[in-house]
Amino acid sequence: MGSAICPTPVLEGGVISWLQEGCLLASCTMFWVKKTRLLVLLALQSLVFLLLFQQLYSPSHSPGLTEKSSPVHVLILSSWRSGSSFVGQLFSQHPDVFYLMEPAWHVWTTLSSANAGQLQMAVRDLVRSVFLCDMTVFDAYMAQGPRKQSRIFQWETSRALCSPPACQFFNRESIIPQTDCKILCGKQPFTVVEEACKSYSHVVLKEVRFFNLKTLHPLLTDPSLNLHIIHLVRDPRAVFRSRQHTEQELMRDSHIVLGNQWDRITREDQPYHLMKTICQSQEEIYKAAQVLPDSLRERYRLIRYEDLVKDPLTQTSNLYEFAGLPFLPQLQTWVHNITQGKGMGGHAFYTNSRNAQDVAQAWRRSLPHDKVIRIQKVCKDTMKLLGYLPVLSEKEQRNLSLDLLSTLEIP
Ligand SMILES: *[C@@H]1O[C@H](CO)[C@@H](O)[C@H](O)[C@H]1NC(C)=O
Ligand SMILES: *[C@@H]1O[C@H](CO)[C@@H](O)[C@H](O)[C@H]1NC(C)=O
Repeated sequence: MGSAICPTPVLEGGVISWLQEGCLLASCTMFWVKKTRLLVLLALQSLVFLLLFQQLYSPSHSPGLTEKSSPVHVLILSSWRSGSSFVGQLFSQHPDVFYLMEPAWHVWTTLSSANAGQLQMAVRDLVRSVFLCDMTVFDAYMAQGPRKQSRIFQWETSRALCSPPACQFFNRESIIPQTDCKILCGKQPFTVVEEACKSYSHVVLKEVRFFNLKTLHPLLTDPSLNLHIIHLVRDPRAVFRSRQHTEQELMRDSHIVLGNQWDRITREDQPYHLMKTICQSQEEIYKAAQVLPDSLRERYRLIRYEDLVKDPLTQTSNLYEFAGLPFLPQLQTWVHNITQGKGMGGHAFYTNSRNAQDVAQAWRRSLPHDKVIRIQKVCKDTMKLLGYLPVLSEKEQRNLSLDLLSTLEIP
């Protein structure tokens, strides 16, 4: 196109082709000019190139910093049976969010003969890579050969993997039921996971396999991440009850949590030892967050499951605000629906939408009082710290008008 529009070049040698390019840039409006005007043109073009060069190599383009608006990374940090699937769904269904549920499941199931402490760095590195949409990290934990996106643990809980660009059957803006997605989107190749991830402003991961904040500290200070931590806790007595109902499903994880203690503890005592470990780690995380420097502490947010189910709309709004997400009208209706609505089945990994407040109190009716006493002893300090009041008698336990949640002054 250049040579067709541009008149014959007037200079010799290598300068000619350079001028032709320049000619394209300057739209060839005035080329047949006297030498002096040509020099002015040359000077102007040099200026243009200089500015372009500056643009390209200015500090904002230096490697390590992300282009465009930099993505926000949110880690929902919790433990098993603490409502984290529910909180995960609050984020997953948001049209700005790429969500994965418990990616570290892959680490734990692949290296299941190790204990939780031995696996924590592998878990951290996996989480970091996934935040950066580098899904090659799963190579270490999946068999070789062609793969589908359905190899990801609980992939169908991610609305992002059920809508474009990952899957064309649903809209990005819709609330997508997991069962429908599982039927229609399971055949998509694994490569769509990375492609989908890169198309979102927020990457949200839910994890139950961190036991302290120290492991996560390098991620909080990592300049390529913008990490925000939502620490979700739940009344240990309710966690205990819920774990009892899903003991088999949690068996492999429980083994990894207890490590070499496993064989030394009687089967009957195991649940209490597990609760002790879980309570201690929740306490450790909370305490460590309080002593973070100000700039990092504002990226940590504690939420109690019980406060969330008491007032889902306000609490969800707070969580979205913390993550920099708008609370869209269709999401407000949906949150209202699922917290008031009908049951969706009792499988351990599905968000249960039975009246959530009933579920939160269920342990008071179904747990024998002697077990409650024992958990309260094992988790005493954690309960005190997080504002869960102990019951002092069976009468208190069964009396549902007695509120066991004290207000938590979050510093
Ligand atoms: C909420 O529930 C109503 C009544 O069942 C239903 O018509 C509506 O589609 C639901 N909205 C969302 C966003 O789930
Ligand atoms: C249950 O607790 C409430 C609130 O503390 C109290 O007023 C009420 O008397 C209790 N009921 C019974 C049967 O103890």
